[in-house]
Amino acid sequence: MADVQNCDSCSSSPLELFERVTAQGEKVRSLKAGKASTDEIDAAVKLLLSLKVTYKTATGQDYKAGSPPVDFSPVSNNGPTTTQDEDFVDPWTVQTSNAKGVDYDKLIVRFGSSKIDKELINRIERVTGKTPHHFLRRGIFFSHRDMNQILDAYENKKPFYLYTGRGPSSEAMHVGHLIPFIFTKWLQEVFNVPLVIQLTDDEKYLWKDLTIEKAYEYAIENAKDIIACGFDINKTFIFSDLDYLGMSSGFYKNVVKVQKHVTFNQVKGIFGFTDSDCIGKISFPAIQAAPSFSSSFPQIFKDKKDIQCLIPCAIDQDPYFRMTRDVAPRIGYLKPALLHSIFFPALQGAQTKMSASDPNSSIFLTDTPKQIKTKINKHAFSGGKDTIEEHRKYGGNCEVDVSYMYLTFFLEDDDKLEKMKQAYTSGALLTGELKKVLIETLQPLVAAHQQRRKQITDEMVKQFMTPRKLAFNF
Ligand code: TRP
Repeated sequence: MADVQNCDSCSSSPLELFERVTAQGEKVRSLKAGKASTDEIDAAVKLLLSLKVTYKTATGQDYKAGSPPVDFSPVSNNGPTTTQDEDFVDPWTVQTSNAKGVDYDKLIVRFGSSKIDKELINRIERVTGKTPHHFLRRGIFFSHRDMNQILDAYENKKPFYLYTGRGPSSEAMHVGHLIPFIFTKWLQEVFNVPLVIQLTDDEKYLWKDLTIEKAYEYAIENAKDIIACGFDINKTFIFSDLDYLGMSSGFYKNVVKVQKHVTFNQVKGIFGFTDSDCIGKISFPAIQAAPSFSSSFPQIFKDKKDIQCLIPCAIDQDPYFRMTRDVAPRIGYLKPALLHSIFFPALQGAQTKMSASDPNSSIFLTDTPKQIKTKINKHAFSGGKDTIEEHRKYGGNCEVDVSYMYLTFFLEDDDKLEKMKQAYTSGALLTGELKKVLIETLQPLVAAHQQRRKQITDEMVKQFMTPRKLAFNF
């Protein structure tokens, strides 16, 4: 699941932008007064104009000297997927004013995807003969595109493959980052298919204040946490973009094909890029699209161009794959199918953003049992009442209670979860007691992850990340 973070232009507040425009205006005036060279003046004027455009995109208002923005609507980075009073979701920003979190049913309508309903879950069970993962049963993976096609293919013994990824923005991964990987591992086991995992160190270099070397280092560190989820080394290829793009002509050819068939206008519409975004960002979506096509991995699929791809990801990644699905038929490829998950809430509540730089916003994979306990007790937003008397009388609200939400992700026992929901809602179970269950669920889970991670050698990482044939014959 992607970190929720901001793009450059969104991270400046409207007021900061206003001040930058004003300062640049003054600079132009003083250059002119000081009879600077025309080149210098032209360059300063150009920057002034582009700052004005950024300001307008961010505030919806024209820049007026001397009148700072008062009431602005944040429209920067708005693709066609939001209106002012709705939730905001794109690969960089997730925002909602609702304590229950984003309204996912609305998102399905807005993104034009399909709900994972009981019928689809039953079909997955029929086709695989396995109990559907609790992420499916509990609506954590809640939306899809073309999953029925994948199941048709599987029933007809036609192969497909899985593709997922991670943007290595820091060394620190939290339990929420594991969600897509835990689920992907289940899918890989149940369907017995090849899996490719993209580490977009290039993306993080472009978007964040990171050196190339650091981004690559994080990719390798994150790879260890991913491997620790238990992927089969004979069926899984993990790659860093910074590494693999330079060594695979199959991959790069597909990047260029996508680049030729998507215009600047289209990515502006989908991702909210502006004229002042660097060209690396503008062309990056082609790099996230390419792994959706089997010909990007000739070492795995030989010359097969028509092995369908299934992508489990958090819903904020959907813009990339809407674009991918749009170009696919135009470059002679199958559209990838998708399974979308909801977001993992921050400890402070489902409407706040989680960030890897705030150690208190989630449980990290490096936390000690004691840290886990303290963080949950201190920071997990509670849907309980203020006093024990009130709580006993009115009960707690599971819909906004973060400890309960975390348990829906990590407590596998359906009966126990249901009992706790009832007890908490009725007031029989207190917040402290609910938190205790969560602490006792996460402590062993994180400790076991740390144990597995410790066993992973550099040699294993290298093997996972070497382009090679997997245990499948194509
Ligand atoms: N952009 C994603 C992130 O920042 C990483 C990613 C690349 C990804 N390819 C993917 C995520 C495919 C899910 C599926 O985390």
